[in-house]
Amino acid sequence: MSHGWTFITGATGFIGHYVLADLLRRGERCIAMLRNDGARRLPLLRREAAPELVIASDQLRIVDGALPNEWPTWDGTKIDRVVHVAGNTTFRRAGEEPARTNVEGTAQLLAWMDALAIADLTHVSTAYVCGAAPGPAIERIQRTPPQFQNDYEASKWQAEQLVADWAGRGGRRLVVARPAIVTGAYESGRATEFRGFYAVARAVEQLSRSYDERPREQRLQIPLRLRGKADEPNQIVPVDWVARAIARLALDRSASGVFHLAHPRPPSNAEIKRMLETIFDVGGGRFVGDEEIFEASQSAEERAFYGGTQPLAAYFSHSPHFDCSRSLALLGRDAEIPAIDLAYLRRCIDFARARRWGRQMPLHTAETARFGSAYFERFLPANLPNSLVSRVQPVRASIRFVVENHEWLCRFADGRLETVRRDSGAAAGEFGYRTTAAGFWRAISGVVDGEQLFASGEADVFGDIEAALKMSAILREFTREFPCDRGRLEPYLVGA
Ligand SMILES: NC(=O)c1ccc[n+]([C@@H]2O[C@H](COP(=O)([O-])OP(=O)(O)OC[C@H]3O[C@@H](n4cnc5c(N)ncnc54)[C@H](OP(=O)(O)O)[C@@H]3O)[C@@H](O)[C@H]2O)c1
Repeated sequence: MSHGWTFITGATGFIGHYVLADLLRRGERCIAMLRNDGARRLPLLRREAAPELVIASDQLRIVDGALPNEWPTWDGTKIDRVVHVAGNTTFRRAGEEPARTNVEGTAQLLAWMDALAIADLTHVSTAYVCGAAPGPAIERIQRTPPQFQNDYEASKWQAEQLVADWAGRGGRRLVVARPAIVTGAYESGRATEFRGFYAVARAVEQLSRSYDERPREQRLQIPLRLRGKADEPNQIVPVDWVARAIARLALDRSASGVFHLAHPRPPSNAEIKRMLETIFDVGGGRFVGDEEIFEASQSAEERAFYGGTQPLAAYFSHSPHFDCSRSLALLGRDAEIPAIDLAYLRRCIDFARARRWGRQMPLHTAETARFGSAYFERFLPANLPNSLVSRVQPVRASIRFVVENHEWLCRFADGRLETVRRDSGAAAGEFGYRTTAAGFWRAISGVVDGEQLFASGEADVFGDIEAALKMSAILREFTREFPCDRGRLEPYLVGA
C-alpha cells in the first residue's frame, strides 16, 4: 500500500467507478476529477458496484474538472500517480469528438502532470488500437498507424503515441492498460453502459421479438448471414476483472509498458452465437464473409440486424488475437479470468433487460414533457415545410416517438406534419422510436445519427423495423438541416 494520493479521471464511467472502488478497497487515498453532476452520481454508483465498501472520511476527495481544458486549481496536495480512465467512446466523429477528449484531453493531462511534477501514469487505452492489422496484436506501442476501423480507434492510438513520447523523456513510469470489449461484473452481470456486445445481444432480442407470433420451426431458422468467422475468438471481459487488473498495475511500481486485458481463453464467435441463440430461443444464423452481404441482397432480418449494429460490424469480421503474455506474467493469479459461459452471459443480459438496456426512468419527467411537446408539436411542424429532405422524400407514415414515459404520435403526409397527438397511449403507429431524455437531446442535435443511438443502446425501434430504419435516415437529414438544442427550443415552449 502506498501513502500518497491517486488522481483518477473517468471515475463515473463504466470501468472507472469499478477502478475507483478497487483502489479504495486496497486502502488508497483517491482524488476523483469529475464534471457536470458527477459528485452527485458517484456515491450512487459506488454503493451499487461495491455495497460492502466502507471508506475512511479522508480517503476520497472530489474535484471539478473536464478534458481537455478545465483543470482544478491545485492546493499543493502531493499526487503520487494518475490513473487516466476518462475517454470518449463515440465510434464515428461527431463534432470534435472523440479526438477532443481522447487526444487533446490526454495531451493537456500530460502538460498538467508536468506542471505538478507527477511522473507516474496508468493510461487506459483499448486493445483495438491494432485496428484492422492482420496477425496477433502484441503488448507494445505500435509506432506505425494501422488501418483503423473507426475514429475511436484512431483517437486512442494517437493518445498512446502521446503518452509514450511523454514516458520516453525519462524519469517517468507509464502503464498502458488495453482492455478488450468490457461486459458486466462477473457475479451480478451489472453494467452501466450497454454498448458493444450489448448492441449485438439487443439486436438478437429484437429479431426474436419480431418472430414472437411465428411457429417455433421458423424461429429456429431465421435467415441471417453474420459477418465473421465462426472459429475466431470473441473477446469480452468482465468489468470487475478489468478494474482489478488496472488498479493492480497502477499500484505495482514494477509494472511498466503495455498490458492487454483480454481473455487468455476467449470463446469463439460460434460459441457466443450459440449462447445468444439459447438465451433468446432463436436459431438459423450462419457466418459468412463480408463480401457475401451486399446491401441489395439483404433479407429484412439482415437489414434490421445490421441497421442496429452497423458501427460494430467490423468487430465480427475482424477478431484479432491479443497476445497477453506480459499481463499474464505480471498479474499472476490476478490474471485468472473466469470462463465466459452461458450462465455469465445470461446474468449480463438479465441485468441489461432489468435496466431496460440502459434507458433509465426520467429524473425530470415534467421537463421531458415540456421540451418534447415544444419539439414535436411546434418545432417540427414549423420547420418541416422548409426542409429540403421533406420535399425530396415526402413521407407518408404514422410514427410514434417515445421519450422516457411520454409519447407523441405524428402523422406525416406529403412532406408535412398533418397531426400530432400527445400521450396517445396504445394508439397505433406503423413504427416508432423509443429513447431517454438524454437520447432525445442527442437525436435532435444533428451531430449523431440514429444508427449510433441504436448501437449505443440509447434508443431503439419498434413495429415495422425496416421502415423505421429507412425513416431514421430521413430524420437524420432533417436534424442536420435544423439542428436543435435547449436554446433553439425556448421560443417554442410557450404554452407547453
Ligand atoms: N467499455 C469498453 O468496452 C472499453 C473497452 C476498451 C477500452 N475502454 C476505454 O476505457 C475507458 C473508459 O470507458 P468506459 O466504457 O468506462 O466509458 P464511459 O462509461 O463512457 O465513461 C467515460 C468516463 O469518462 C468521463 N469523460 C468522458 N469525456 C470526458 C471529458 N471530456 N472530460 C472529463 N471526463 C470525461 C465520463 O464522465 P461523465 O460520467 O461525466 O460523462 C465517464 O466518467 C475509455 O478510455 C475507453 O476508451 C473501454
